[in-house]
Amino acid sequence: SFLTLEKEPVTVLVTGAACSLNNFENWPHIWTGQIGYALVPMIARGAMLGPDQPVIVHLLDIEPAAEALNALKMELIDAAFPLLKGVVVTTDVVEACDGVEIAILVGGYRRKDGMERKDVMSKNVSIYKAQALALDQHAAPDCKVLVVANPANTNALILREFAPSIPEKNITCLTRLDHNRALAQISERLNVYVSDVKNVIIWGNHSSTQYPDANHAIVDTGIGEKPAIELVDDDNWLKTEFVETVQQRGAAIIKARKMSSALSAASSACDHIHDWVLGTPKGTWVSMGVSSDGSYGIPQGLVYSFPVTCDKGEWSIVQGLKIDEFSRAKMDENAKELMDEKSMAYSCLGD
Ligand code: NAD
Ligand code: LMR
Repeated sequence: SFLTLEKEPVTVLVTGAACSLNNFENWPHIWTGQIGYALVPMIARGAMLGPDQPVIVHLLDIEPAAEALNALKMELIDAAFPLLKGVVVTTDVVEACDGVEIAILVGGYRRKDGMERKDVMSKNVSIYKAQALALDQHAAPDCKVLVVANPANTNALILREFAPSIPEKNITCLTRLDHNRALAQISERLNVYVSDVKNVIIWGNHSSTQYPDANHAIVDTGIGEKPAIELVDDDNWLKTEFVETVQQRGAAIIKARKMSSALSAASSACDHIHDWVLGTPKGTWVSMGVSSDGSYGIPQGLVYSFPVTCDKGEWSIVQGLKIDEFSRAKMDENAKELMDEKSMAYSCLGD
């Protein structure tokens, strides 16, 4: 037939989308909306949901950024993206969440000089509680949520607690950037294409405690697949420099850029949703922060990064991987840090 049926558009929410140079709250001029500005055009081009999937985007930011949000809408219109079927910009969380099928939560505060970790946590968990309530009431029933804003795992846990109508399996956080960073380090070390490396794992928290694990990684050598550990042939590098480089990569970008990573975070957020919705290739897994079901002895309910495969819009934790003593200690250290963050978050909400 000559008839090509276009798919129904999917509604995607991005919070923290307004890119501007501002001095909100007396901050000396500071760029904001970094990830959002990189992410929204990727979504509109089909990098997240595929080249044949039309989208409607809902973009939320706070009142002082309203004008910058409008500017973003003007640019999105001017870009004439064929897949973009609608743009809603708003500073009203209820309007933003209305009918959304995918929510990417990037908005939040970043740390200012002199602020304690607890001060940032306190501001961000309150935002996540409010957004949880709005998503709970107004999002599509099967809405898939990706939390990007830090502390990502704990924000996702708070969101889950206050959005009981959203299935627990639909609330996730981003550790795909760390996963991609780990693939990239191995590819550089072995001088192979990054697309020839797979099955690294990020265990735990999206913090510098995270455990990047290459024990199960595979490299396509062109004449067959081989374990990365055999090709690297330096256990010490895998246990030290590799782990530390990936753990510290976010800090290294901040040092070099004076702002945190934006294009790589946006691209990895697309990868996360893409693979979750459209599936992981056979024999390949990715890392996602998800609610623990007790796998690998990680306390149930913590939002913890695991290796997962995805099929038909559902993730499953990869089972049966052999865990050595070195890995065990690092995985437990992450569980402990996340338990501590969880209690800190609750004490912030109680304040
Ligand atoms: P940014 O400061 O440039 O932008 C944040 C935006 O959020 C701003 O536009 C701000 O106005 C908005 N905002 C604040 N409160 C809001 C609210 N209540 N509702 C909606 N919007 C609100 O920050 P960024 O560089 O884009 O980073 C965003 C977050 O992502 C930060 O927390 C950062 O630490 C985190 N991050 C996570 C990863 C990851 O891999 N998980 C990677 C990089 C950055
Ligand atoms: C990153 O991993 O690049 C960011 O989470 C760093 C940060 O603290 O924003």
